[in-house]
Amino acid sequence: MIFEQVATGGCQSYLVGCGDTCSAVLIDPEISQVDRYLAIAARDGLRIHYVIDTHTHADHFSATRTLAQRLKVPVVMHRDSPAPFADLRLQDADLLRVGNLRLQALHTPGHTADSMCLLLDDRIFTGDTLLIGGTGRTDLPSGDPSALYDSLFSGILKLDPSLLVFPAHDYKARGSSTIAEELANNPRLQRTERTAFIEMMEHLDLNAPTHLTEALRTNMSGGKSVAQLLAEAATKTPFVSLSELRARIVAGSTDLIVLDVRERDAFDAGHVPGAMNLPRGQLELRVNDALPDPTRRIVTLCQFGKISTLAAATLRELGFLRTSALDGGMAAWTEAGYPLEKAG
Ligand SMILES: [Fe+2]
Repeated sequence: MIFEQVATGGCQSYLVGCGDTCSAVLIDPEISQVDRYLAIAARDGLRIHYVIDTHTHADHFSATRTLAQRLKVPVVMHRDSPAPFADLRLQDADLLRVGNLRLQALHTPGHTADSMCLLLDDRIFTGDTLLIGGTGRTDLPSGDPSALYDSLFSGILKLDPSLLVFPAHDYKARGSSTIAEELANNPRLQRTERTAFIEMMEHLDLNAPTHLTEALRTNMSGGKSVAQLLAEAATKTPFVSLSELRARIVAGSTDLIVLDVRERDAFDAGHVPGAMNLPRGQLELRVNDALPDPTRRIVTLCQFGKISTLAAATLRELGFLRTSALDGGMAAWTEAGYPLEKAG
């Protein structure tokens, strides 16, 4: 078995391959690591056949859909997953064949209704059902402490105590544990009586995960996160550095249209000398009048350098092929003490 654990912050993903056939499966991939997974698979001579989410993640952005489209392979989730893009839906005890490996899905609701663990030889991928020294929370959508109790105490904790436990999250870089170690040391598993366990889970008083609504929106719909949208726009446009723009402004260069896409009041309060204002929300509406010559060189800018990237990508799509975006925004420009012009 070829085995790679990839940590992204506290999120743990796993690339598991069959050494005999070079077939592999990727479990709980995270969106910022797409290139890394593909690079590791290439380095190890593996071809990924399935991308799996152990459950609908509420705290990170899943890369299953992106990778499935890129690799032309199915997204695998439990049958109860709300994600419309899950191509292969597993039920309890279903086996997934990956070369000579056999991954068995165990339905373990509790953290979410669609949680599953994956059993493979000497190890189990526990998703957020069982963590090292913890369990997944049960206070997010479709969570159920009573179901988690059953999934743990009547389910995976009854498996071979020597099984290696690989969770979907671990914030302390511990790598793995075993069922026996968790039974002995995991504080949450010391509440072995149902009522006491539920009582504990209902009073954990945890903060909502950052990006909760955005993660659920994208993971349940297959839509993009705002960061993804911006990253895609950034691949479609070159950038100009703050210092380069400053040098051109100071030199009195006139071959460049500096297009400030912020709202009018922000523009009036202070902008790059000579800049033209065309708010992003009016770009398509006013572009023909405001920018009659598509051969001019244009630099878009905004407050933080994000919306200007979208504006530059849009302008390039419209045929303004000499458009770049400022690498940074007015916040950085102002902080650097670069020249400003005010309205009136
Ligand atoms: Fe989770």
